[in-house]
Amino acid sequence: MEKIVLNNGIECPVVGIGTFMLSPTEAENSVREALKMGYSLVDTANAYVNERACGRGIKESGLSREEVFLSTKLWPSEYENPNAVDETLERLGVDYVDLLYIHQPAGNWLAGYRQLEKAYREGKAKAIGISNFEGKYIEELETKREVVPQFIQVEAHPYFTQKELRKTLDKYDIKLMSWYPLGHGDKSLINEPLFAELGKKYGKSNAQIILRWHTQMGFVVIPGSKNVDHIKDNLDILDFKLTDEEMDEIGKLDKDTRYYHRTDAQLEQFAGWKPNFEEK
Ligand SMILES: NC(=O)c1ccc[n+]([C@@H]2O[C@H](COP(=O)([O-])OP(=O)(O)OC[C@H]3O[C@@H](n4cnc5c(N)ncnc54)[C@H](OP(=O)(O)O)[C@@H]3O)[C@@H](O)[C@H]2O)c1
Repeated sequence: MEKIVLNNGIECPVVGIGTFMLSPTEAENSVREALKMGYSLVDTANAYVNERACGRGIKESGLSREEVFLSTKLWPSEYENPNAVDETLERLGVDYVDLLYIHQPAGNWLAGYRQLEKAYREGKAKAIGISNFEGKYIEELETKREVVPQFIQVEAHPYFTQKELRKTLDKYDIKLMSWYPLGHGDKSLINEPLFAELGKKYGKSNAQIILRWHTQMGFVVIPGSKNVDHIKDNLDILDFKLTDEEMDEIGKLDKDTRYYHRTDAQLEQFAGWKPNFEEK
C-alpha cells in the first residue's frame, strides 16, 4: 500500500474505507471485508453512530491494532465534554486512534481543538485534523492552535478540487483527505466520458480513474461503500499512473461546484445535535 508522510513523520495509507451513512451492520461488514482484502485505513466519526461496529469490524479482520490506521471525528456536542476522547476510544475498543478530527467548525470548536491537542500530547491520537474548516475557519485556527494539524478532511472531487484551500495547506504541509471522492455516487460525475476513455486505456472502471486522480493529486481517499465488489475495485488503483497530460485534462472538469452547501444555520443546528450513540 502506498503511503504519504504527514508533517509529524507519521505515515498514512493513501486509500481507505469510508463509513458515512453506513448502518452499524453495514459498517462492521465493510470494515472487516476491506481490511481482509488489503485496506489499512478506516474512517468513521462520532456522528456516524457506527464506531462500535467499526471497532468490531477491525477485530474480526484479524489484523493487529498496529496494522490499521484508524480515523474518527469528535462531533460538536462533544467539544466541551472532558471525557469525549476517552469515550470515543471506548466505543472503538482501542486505546489510541491514528487520526482524530474535529468534525465541524460549530459550537465551541476551539475547545474541541484543545481536546485534540491534549489527546495528541498524551498519545491517544497519533495525528490530528480539522474537518470542514475551509476559509475563515482555518485562518482563525492558524492564530490559535498550538499543534499544527496533520490533515484536513473536506469535500473534494474532479468537479471541486479545492484550489484555494490547497494554497494554505501547502504552506503548513497539511494533507487533504477527500470526502465525497466519487461525488457521493453521482452518476454524472462517474459517467464523465473522459473517465470512460481513460478507463479503456488502463483497463479500469471510471470510479477507479477518479480515485487514482485523487491519489495523484496528493489526496488521501476514503470512498464509502457497502458493496464488496466496489470495495475491492476501489483499492485496485495503484498499479497504473495517469500521465501529466491526463491529469491536466481531468483538471479541466473542475467546475468549482460542491455537492454539499453548508449554511451558518446548519452549523448552529450541528452544535445543538447530539448523536444517539450505539449502546453496546
Ligand atoms: N468530514 C465530513 O463531513 C464527511 C462528509 C461526508 C463523508 N465523509 C467521509 O468520506 C467518505 C466518502 O464519502 P461518501 O461515502 O459520502 O461518498 P463517496 O465515497 O463519494 O460515494 C459513495 C457512493 O459511491 C458508491 N460507490 C462506491 N464505490 C463505487 C464504485 N467503485 N463504483 C460505483 N459506485 C461506487 C457507493 O455505493 P455502494 O455502497 O453501492 O458501493 C456510495 O453510494 C465517507 O464514507 C466518510 O467516511 C466525511
